[in-house]
Amino acid sequence: MRPTQSLSPVLAAVAVLLVGNQQVRAEPFSFPLANGFPFPNQTALEELFTRAGGNFTNAPLAPRFDDDSLTSWKLQAFNEFMEVAFFTQLIANITNGVAGYEIDSSTREYVLTSLETIQAQEEMHAYNANDAVRYFTNGSHMFPCTYQFPVSTFAEAVDFAQTLTDMYIGLLANIQQRTALHLGSDSNSIIYVLAQALGQEGQQSGWFRSLRRIPPSAEPFLTTSTREFALGWMQHWIVPGSCPNMDAIPLRILPPLTITAVSIGDASHSGNVTLVAPGALDPDSQSVAFVNGALVPTVVPFKVRQTSPCGGDDRAAATDRVTTTQHDQTVLASGRATSAGPGGSEGCIASTEITADMPYAHNVMHGLVLMAVVENSGEFITAQDVADATLYGPALLEWS
Ligand SMILES: *[C@@H]1O[C@H](CO)[C@@H](O)[C@H](O)[C@H]1NC(C)=O
Ligand SMILES: *[C@@H]1O[C@H](CO)[C@@H](O)[C@H](O)[C@H]1NC(C)=O
Ligand SMILES: *[C@@H]1O[C@H](CO)[C@@H](O)[C@H](O)[C@H]1NC(C)=O
Ligand SMILES: *[C@@H]1O[C@H](CO)[C@@H](O)[C@H](O)[C@H]1NC(C)=O
Ligand SMILES: *[C@@H]1O[C@H](CO)[C@@H](O)[C@H](O)[C@H]1NC(C)=O
Repeated sequence: MRPTQSLSPVLAAVAVLLVGNQQVRAEPFSFPLANGFPFPNQTALEELFTRAGGNFTNAPLAPRFDDDSLTSWKLQAFNEFMEVAFFTQLIANITNGVAGYEIDSSTREYVLTSLETIQAQEEMHAYNANDAVRYFTNGSHMFPCTYQFPVSTFAEAVDFAQTLTDMYIGLLANIQQRTALHLGSDSNSIIYVLAQALGQEGQQSGWFRSLRRIPPSAEPFLTTSTREFALGWMQHWIVPGSCPNMDAIPLRILPPLTITAVSIGDASHSGNVTLVAPGALDPDSQSVAFVNGALVPTVVPFKVRQTSPCGGDDRAAATDRVTTTQHDQTVLASGRATSAGPGGSEGCIASTEITADMPYAHNVMHGLVLMAVVENSGEFITAQDVADATLYGPALLEWS
């Protein structure tokens, strides 16, 4: 058995950048784009279809919609805005020769062309979703926010692009299921277009994985997410207060959970994760749930390693991003802990650090892994069951 490793050395390096109150912040990105997006005029739209390599559907619209479906489409538009923001900023970083974004001349053009196509296709997805929202609300729509992404090199951007895309794939799978449940046979045309977008996002994720020199397809059945997990995770990259109408999405915003270390043996052994929640936790009535692949969620107990009182140092705030390579496994994790608020009242806990065994080897985990601290509340069959019982989450890992 080989010795285990933890992420601590990597964390220490990250912490150096973030020391003190003045965290190194990524450059913010805000809309609109030069073509008027998110509200392009007809001329700009025609130009967009050409760049994206295809038009919107001209098939008949769904005969009816309900409130749940409207929430889903608002969230899709909202999520797609973030994708457009990310790819637009990434293209600009490469084009402007920002330090860290130099690409070998033999692949630079292919990479740029591919990203430009992806960016245009994401604009189409976002516009399409917002158009559905407009149609079914008699004219109102979602607005984008200002974003800050946890990347400052091309390699980091590719890692993040993969996670961003895998999270959206997980969301679309969840929305497909909800739509079928809520609209029955009236969901036909919506399920169809969701499948078209799902495949497209899968192609993207596969390309990002190829750029990382790992197999394009991660696992036989991809990890599903939920609307709450998607919205919660996005909060890390949204500049607080910058969204004109995020509250038009009637979903709970989950308190965050941050992954600070992964410790695994060699491929035949399981390991454990260290997670930090911004509050008190109770190992007697709560557990950690893992969502990955086609298996029903795995729920395991956790141990409290330490708690930080309110007003004290917040260890968790020092983690913007965690990356490590262990044996042949590349582990990517991303998340940002909220800073501990001011406090100091007796018994007040600002954050709790826990460890939980990770059923990595037993479950043959690959691709996206979602983790949450949940209330012990019966059996978890779907990712939605986990989200419904979540106290803190999701924390994410990408396992190649
Ligand atoms: C672009 O570069 C800036 C400056 O390094 C960085 O703050 C930002 O996060 C980068 N964005 C992307 C998407 O690469
Ligand atoms: C459409 O939008 C583009 C980009 O903002 C602008 O250059 C163009 O003048 C607009 N065309 C019309 C007809 O408004
Ligand atoms: C693309 O679709 C839009 C919206 O359905 C339509 O107005 C436009 O004429 C289409 N363009 C082409 C080139 O088919
Ligand atoms: C939109 O208008 C139609 C027709 O006036 C109405 O039946 C429907 O309830 C309205 N929908 C919303 C979401 O306001
Ligand atoms: C799990 O965590 C403990 C500390 O809590 C550590 O000693 C151990 O090496 C970790 N890894 C594995 C594979 O159990």
